[in-house]
Amino acid sequence: MVKKSLGFIGGGRITRIILGGLKNAGGIPEDVVVSDINSETLQKLKNEFPEILIAPRDNTAPVKKEIVFLAVHPPLISDVLKEITPFLKPTTFLISLAPKVRIKNILEIVKGFPKVARMIPNACSIINQGYNPITFAETVNEIDKKSLLDFLSLLGECPIVSEEKLEAYAVITGMGPTYFWFQFNELKELAKGFGLSEKEAVAGIEKMVIGTIKTLFKSGLTPEQVMDLIPVRPFAEKEEEIKKIFRSILEGLYKKLKGV
Ligand SMILES: NC(=O)c1ccc[n+]([C@@H]2O[C@H](COP(=O)([O-])OP(=O)(O)OC[C@H]3O[C@@H](n4cnc5c(N)ncnc54)[C@H](OP(=O)(O)O)[C@@H]3O)[C@@H](O)[C@H]2O)c1
Repeated sequence: MVKKSLGFIGGGRITRIILGGLKNAGGIPEDVVVSDINSETLQKLKNEFPEILIAPRDNTAPVKKEIVFLAVHPPLISDVLKEITPFLKPTTFLISLAPKVRIKNILEIVKGFPKVARMIPNACSIINQGYNPITFAETVNEIDKKSLLDFLSLLGECPIVSEEKLEAYAVITGMGPTYFWFQFNELKELAKGFGLSEKEAVAGIEKMVIGTIKTLFKSGLTPEQVMDLIPVRPFAEKEEEIKKIFRSILEGLYKKLKGV
């Protein structure tokens, strides 16, 4: 079991994902406190992870822990930071999981408190297969960085990236699973309708998806050559339309996150 003490401000989806990943990786640490304004959300989390302590409407409780995840939405970050700043301890590492709010702004609010990072986690962390790019404030020393990265590796890969790229990762790897999950699930349902068992459908789709990605990105063929490997493309006529939908929605989202 991990020895670190953890605090979570916000007990919603991403907190559940991280706790789920830690549980899979060997167990929830002994000392975990989660706060949220919503008591019902907290109680649900507590039912799932009885080991944790919950602190309804008390964001000062998680702040005393070694690693504190700021797991609220971007518009709330500033107010929550103002609320917790007087309670930050020198041993605390503060990690914001929100896109949009830059380290410079966080440092301004926490009045120079040095141990600050931003991470864009991905939901596959729940099975320890996350891809979770992180960026550190310049004020973080190498020993603290290494210690945090060792801990975060329990959730998957945690590459250090430049802060300017975090919003791109938020759109591509953070929200990315949602672009595909419903489609893979639909394929599974169709496969069952065509006579495959659940097990056969899942095995076939899993291998097909992994192989599909590797063929596109790792085969050495160009995208055009790859896409020409199969002569029948049932969605050929719809591809331009689908690409347009991807572009308009995701470009809009990226601009919103970048504030441009
Ligand atoms: N979920 C993901 O896969 C994912 C991936 C990458 C980044 N993130 C980031 O993680 C952050 C949280 O996302 P989420 O998916 O966990 O959202 P969520 O499921 O909506 O959880 C956020 C929780 O914070 C609570 N909250 C609101 N105001 C608060 C306050 N002042 N103090 C304490 N808690 C408060 C919310 O309560 P109410 O619902 O009652 O308002 C809610 O329970 C966001 O910045 C998001 O961009 C999430």
